[in-house]
Amino acid sequence: MKALITGGAGFLGPALARALVKRGDSVVLLDVAFPEGRLGDLTGKVETHVANVAIFSEVLEAFRRHRPDSIFHLAALLSAGAIASPTEAYHVNIDGFFHGIEGARLFDAKRFIFPSSVASFGPGAPDPTPNEHDQKPTTLYGVSKVFGERLGEYYQGTYGLEFRTMRLPSVLGPGRGGGGMSAYSTFMIERPIRGEPYDVYCREETRIPLLYVDDAIEGFLRIHDAPRAKLSRCTYSVQGFSPTAGEIAAEVRRRVPDAKITFRPDAERQKVLDSWPRRLDDAPAREDWGWRPSFDLRGAVDGYMRALRGASTR
Ligand SMILES: NC(=O)c1ccc[n+]([C@@H]2O[C@H](COP(=O)([O-])OP(=O)(O)OC[C@H]3O[C@@H](n4cnc5c(N)ncnc54)[C@H](O)[C@@H]3O)[C@@H](O)[C@H]2O)c1
Repeated sequence: MKALITGGAGFLGPALARALVKRGDSVVLLDVAFPEGRLGDLTGKVETHVANVAIFSEVLEAFRRHRPDSIFHLAALLSAGAIASPTEAYHVNIDGFFHGIEGARLFDAKRFIFPSSVASFGPGAPDPTPNEHDQKPTTLYGVSKVFGERLGEYYQGTYGLEFRTMRLPSVLGPGRGGGGMSAYSTFMIERPIRGEPYDVYCREETRIPLLYVDDAIEGFLRIHDAPRAKLSRCTYSVQGFSPTAGEIAAEVRRRVPDAKITFRPDAERQKVLDSWPRRLDDAPAREDWGWRPSFDLRGAVDGYMRALRGASTR
């Protein structure tokens, strides 16, 4: 199988590429730039393609050159980035999604996999939030995810392109950047492990769903590989674990007793976090394609520590 991963130089792209390469797939990573050293051990094992998903001709050229069977469309500005740069977010997340899926249709790709988000729901969603629930997000990022979900379903219904999307919780793990509103969950683990202080920008009792990166990657593989006959829908919420920010701090302090974690809530960011569901009901994903996350909060912090130590000894 030949896979094209857009946004391939980000946090999830290289991790997904590593898993695909390991099982023998060929992988092309597409991104606007590949910073020095970003690919690490993937160098020489994947192809890279520099292109801007907001420019249709560049996306079409990537399809023409590589002819992928499957697309993992990860290129996006995340929630905080979309607030800072709404025009760019519109072009990348909405135009870019259309360019990716239309390219997939024109070049006869078989499957198009898209990470949606907990942020596609809006304020007041029940806990847990059912897979099928009104989506009234109050951010441009959330609106762009709803757009992708619905347009993808239209492409599957109209053109037969197999469209599959996981609504991901906030994903934490080494290598995550600061573009998402939920990045505190990663940094409040990473900074104390590195011996640095961290000011958390939300309240201690803030509770959002989280997922460890290894489970997110396993989810991408499973939803991609599932036989079409097993799938009752295109769009599946997945759940990991839902600690409060205070519970994350306590878990970090169990391992780093002198961790300097302080809470200094920022009203604007708190408002966005408060608009997201506390927990997602993932029963359809479990039933249809065997979604089974392995990491809870404790396992995620352990995994994080192992990965950081591994990176520092490489
Ligand atoms: N990380 C999370 O917690 C999380 C949660 C839910 C959904 N998602 C979704 O998963 C996907 C990947 O997330 P991530 O955490 O790896 O994000 P990331 O910000 O680390 O990576 C996104 C990549 O997209 C690239 N990109 C931006 N504009 C582009 C353009 N015009 N053309 C080509 N590439 C462009 C960036 O350079 C970056 O490498 C995104 O669609 C995101 O919305 C992530």
